[in-house]
Amino acid sequence: MEKAWWQKSTIYQIYPRSFNDSNGDGIGDLEGIIAKLDYLQLLGIDIIWLSPVYQSPNDDNGYDISNYYDIMSDFGTMDDMERLIEETKKRDIHIMMDLVINHTSDEHHWFKESRKSKDNPYRDYYIWRESENGPPSDITSVFSGSAWEWDGQTDEYYFHLFSKKQPDLNLHNPEVREHLYKMMNFWLSKGVSGFRMDVIDLIGKEVDENVLTDGPKLHDYLQEMNEKVLSRYPTVTVGETPSATTETAQLYTGKGRNELDMVFTFQHMSLDERAGEGKWALKELDFTELKKVLSTWQTSLFQKGWNSLYWNNHDQPRIVSRWGNDQEYRVESAKMLATVLHMMQGTPFIYQGEEIGMTNIDWDDITRYRDIESINYFNEKKTEGVPEQEIMQSIRTKGRDNARTPFQWNDDAHGGFTNGVPWIEVNANYHEINALEAMGNQDSIFYHYQKLIALRKRLDIVVYGEYELLLEDHPEIMAYTRTWEEQTLLVVANFYGGNPDFKLPETVDDARSTLIISNYSDTRERPSEIHTLRPYEAVVYLIEKQPNN
Ligand code: NOJ
Repeated sequence: MEKAWWQKSTIYQIYPRSFNDSNGDGIGDLEGIIAKLDYLQLLGIDIIWLSPVYQSPNDDNGYDISNYYDIMSDFGTMDDMERLIEETKKRDIHIMMDLVINHTSDEHHWFKESRKSKDNPYRDYYIWRESENGPPSDITSVFSGSAWEWDGQTDEYYFHLFSKKQPDLNLHNPEVREHLYKMMNFWLSKGVSGFRMDVIDLIGKEVDENVLTDGPKLHDYLQEMNEKVLSRYPTVTVGETPSATTETAQLYTGKGRNELDMVFTFQHMSLDERAGEGKWALKELDFTELKKVLSTWQTSLFQKGWNSLYWNNHDQPRIVSRWGNDQEYRVESAKMLATVLHMMQGTPFIYQGEEIGMTNIDWDDITRYRDIESINYFNEKKTEGVPEQEIMQSIRTKGRDNARTPFQWNDDAHGGFTNGVPWIEVNANYHEINALEAMGNQDSIFYHYQKLIALRKRLDIVVYGEYELLLEDHPEIMAYTRTWEEQTLLVVANFYGGNPDFKLPETVDDARSTLIISNYSDTRERPSEIHTLRPYEAVVYLIEKQPNN
């Protein structure tokens, strides 16, 4: 299999608004990121995915861009951005920009023109429809309500799958695509190394046919983008594709397809949702289902594509509160989850704060939340008469602000994130959970992540080995092997707080096994020493094959 530079890499996502505030305005900024690059270098990451830093009125925290060629003033200036690129280069760290091209802000110059008149040259940059009796169709916005907004200036509706301040671009217009490619080339020539592509599975949509994701032109557009932009630089790309299946992922990432390097699947993220009812309709997590989903992706893309590996991002609740135990076994379970993910095949992503085991917030008062998605959902359900407690139960469990509270750097006021008043409150547990504490403790989650990142660099088997799930139906243990050349990697993890029995698979050559990482300091050097697993225990052994003589 072809070896690409980003296959051994680990990517760290920064949500700039919540990372580090250097000027006391309560909002994280580029200067703040620069100040923390040594911290990231110590962790060992290779690439930073920077959530949007472009000019934006912040209706959706930067995912509503009003100028692709300028920096949001809250975050700094283009000079700061250039310095960030320079400073990351000095540390051998690449930057992956967030690319939001499904929509712009309604304050983007193109949209301001577009809405002026039906014959404006920018009219066809967006999706306008006339309709006499209400919206042209029943399509709803991801952020609640109709996806169509009436605009009195020209008496037509425009289409917005997200907020009404995020009108969807019409990528069927070749002029729009050319503008976007020019912009991408601008950033690559500035020295960034690639893009994380926001909801990229939507760009071929055919609204009149009710086709949103996976439109007929989607892959043509990605191939065109690859030809006109991506193939001209040694880039790394990941597409956000909520609709992706293991089949479509092979179209996006397959060798010779010339589209993207990897995509984000959502199947393991929606296991706490009732199918077809959307993200807020909660259901119990099903562990065997999780194993099945992760394993299917591992085996389906083996030598046919490439996986992204993630537990968290700025849209998801914190993993240690979701699949781990964020109280008694916070440290053990955070390390266990990291081990299970990082020993799989693919490129791992770490979301800021994951490496110190940051947890969900547990706020029951909507006024403390800042996210437009949660606030719109609350208002809509309140109007429908749903009891507040029920609405808040969903928001506490799934709301995006769980991931967006400020990074907890130390025990100072506001977790050391700002000297001012933070735009969103810091999680009250920052006294115990913070980076300073983690860095002073050799057994911390931080150093466990550091070891996992280093293992991927040191051992080819972590990058290339073939995956096989063991103990498929076990209700508490996830175990798998990776096999590559003369070696096997055995990963065994207890996902719960009990002490399940563990029987060594007969295929494992105990005498040739070496423990390479564990989340308990009292280690078991050989797998045969394990009879029962400890709460949230995770161990990895490297097994050398018997020589043939
Ligand atoms: C996906 C992004 O990750 C999310 O934060 C954003 O709200 C939507 N796309 C719209 O851009």
